[in-house]
Amino acid sequence: MLLLVELGYGQTDREAFINDLIAQMTLQEKVGQMTNLGLTALVEGGFWTATDSLVLDEALMKTYLQRYAVGSIQGKGVYPPTQHEWQRLTATVQAYAKEHSRLGIPLLIGIDAVHGAHYTANATTFPHQLGLGASFNTSLVQDIGAATSQNLLASGIQWNFAPVLDLAWQPLWGRIEETFSADPHVVATLGAAFVKGAQQTYQQQRVAACLKHWVGYSFPFSGKDRSPIHLSPIDVQQFFMPPFKSAITAGASSVMLNSGALNGVPGHVDAEGLAQLKEEWGFSGFVVSDWDDLTKLVDVHRVAADYKEATRQAVMAGMDMCMVPYDSTFSVALVELVQEGAVPMARIDDAVRRILRVKYDIGSWEAPVEMELNSYADLALQAATESMVLLKNEGALPLAAQEKVVVAGPGAHSVTALQGPWSRTWKGDDTSYNHPAAKTLVEALTALDVDATFLPGAGYDTLGAISQEDFAAADKIILVLGEEPVTEKASDIHDLNLPVAQQALVQRAALTGKPIVVVLLQGRPRLMAAIEPVTSAVVHGFYPGQYGGIALARLLTGQANFSAKLPYTYPKHHGSLKGYPYRMADHLDQQFGLSGYAPQWPFGYGQSYTTFEYHNFQCSDTLVGLDRSLSCHVTVTNTGDRAGKEVVQWYYQDEIASVTPVEWRLVGYEKIALLPGQEKEVAFALPASQLQLVNRKAAWVWEPGYGKIGVGPDSKTLDTHRFWLDVNTE
Ligand code: BGC
Repeated sequence: MLLLVELGYGQTDREAFINDLIAQMTLQEKVGQMTNLGLTALVEGGFWTATDSLVLDEALMKTYLQRYAVGSIQGKGVYPPTQHEWQRLTATVQAYAKEHSRLGIPLLIGIDAVHGAHYTANATTFPHQLGLGASFNTSLVQDIGAATSQNLLASGIQWNFAPVLDLAWQPLWGRIEETFSADPHVVATLGAAFVKGAQQTYQQQRVAACLKHWVGYSFPFSGKDRSPIHLSPIDVQQFFMPPFKSAITAGASSVMLNSGALNGVPGHVDAEGLAQLKEEWGFSGFVVSDWDDLTKLVDVHRVAADYKEATRQAVMAGMDMCMVPYDSTFSVALVELVQEGAVPMARIDDAVRRILRVKYDIGSWEAPVEMELNSYADLALQAATESMVLLKNEGALPLAAQEKVVVAGPGAHSVTALQGPWSRTWKGDDTSYNHPAAKTLVEALTALDVDATFLPGAGYDTLGAISQEDFAAADKIILVLGEEPVTEKASDIHDLNLPVAQQALVQRAALTGKPIVVVLLQGRPRLMAAIEPVTSAVVHGFYPGQYGGIALARLLTGQANFSAKLPYTYPKHHGSLKGYPYRMADHLDQQFGLSGYAPQWPFGYGQSYTTFEYHNFQCSDTLVGLDRSLSCHVTVTNTGDRAGKEVVQWYYQDEIASVTPVEWRLVGYEKIALLPGQEKEVAFALPASQLQLVNRKAAWVWEPGYGKIGVGPDSKTLDTHRFWLDVNTE
């Protein structure tokens, strides 16, 4: 393979270079570019489970990389290679593709790296996205995007199936931990920040981000993964799409489709949605299917009688690349469809052009980078510290010096529980790949000289023989509860309550009368209304990654301060799951008052070891115009005796609209650091662009009328100011 300059093209000749390539390509070569295969398809034997099963097979490489001219592969096994093993693998397949394919087009090699390069042995894992959402820290998220890409590039991988831009609206859904937040503004801003970091250039190469899952995937009505999604077209436009638009504006290279069906239309055949993405928004990158989803169009969604028809529908709807995953079915079907005239060559050329554009942009025809895996331990520790929310504290925290603690529960002495799924392996449950620097909470407390005793026996669904007497030596009890790391279909549940055995553990500990601190390591809000009253403190740790144990120990002992806020509503009852954002009617009670919904904790809520006071809230005007934003400011004072960080949250409420508006929705936030006694004036300009709504025709419009801006420490505690939105441009 020749480098771009050797081929006679400069950095700015992208479209000419691609046109010249397309002009030389056979149909099979074009379809090959549209094909993504799992690495498994190229290795000897079956699925790779260890180094010795990761042996590339010459005959298979010849079949797929030469005969079918496959242009993209991805790694997904049940064994995490080291950086150097990845380098050897990626360099070998690249060299094969470049030398043995006719045009020497480099492969696009992809992977899921949704919280760090977690499929590389010993690469740092960061908190899952939901914890990053709780941090409300955009620069932190940008740095994590950049760090993840540096680690991927060091392994020869240039495509990351991240960030996840789905909204955490359905608490039952088992992939919430992969999302940033229930709030579209948080997802839009953190998503764009991640993309900027992730697509940063290193030595003329970069990673292509992949936004997923277009669109609505996270809102299955039943809560079960990939089950039917029912969302009004208004909510799709107003809330689910803007995060994608924001990340595309930030330059994202690719988009992955929704495996489910939205309002009856499977994501993979939703031509209308894809036309909006590509034509209306001008997205020039490419759209990839999710894993094996053409098969699901036949077997599950039943919109196509056979695989070939599914291929036709998906390609014609706008899918540019198919994650097959392991054979030539897609390639064979698509070549036939073109030969039969069922798919026009223009559609194929468009898809190939989009894919080659991304390959060009990420520097595929440049010299490979030479980098070692950086550690990013400090960044991961900071992120873990900023990701955990203190939901309740009746004086139990921070732990006092010399206090004896007994620590129990399934997450107490487990790195797996801290990392969550997608860690070294898909489920993340194989402890043999734990990072040597990772510490469990018990180990981390001990390292800080806390007198901590681990009480074994309590699992996710088992209580063991633990009795009240086992806590006798403790001054305080720490129970680390939550969910066994799991994802996708395997994460489906029938009941959102914390498993019975864990609730029983809390009740048993409560018999001692000692203060109980509950730490929740989980990817969704497992209900705890029955046990919350007997706790003295509650921490929502999400899945904070491999430095989560150390961060947690520092937070519990007061060596660090909590600064995270809830990225979703924490519900209280299984029959009342509708959280933020909500409409007024969601709160109607039995007497037709508005007290019908009291969550355990509201969106945006989180405590600190210090206290903040909001005062002197003022806005310049009572009018917002299309060319005139509303300038407001508020002063926040740290009234406690510790340094702390506060997330100042700005919300908007539309009083009357032609479609029922949601109550308060976030329009801005800023995380500020304050020393004890220090105060800061925080300013915010509310532009009219934030005040558009989607009307009954699913169009974005401004409607004149009264609105309110609110500022405060969470979505329920707001100082407000009323204004008139004037849409007259005269
Ligand atoms: C998941 C995607 C993931 C893909 C590739 C699918 O099952 O839904 O989120 O990127 O697999 O691993």
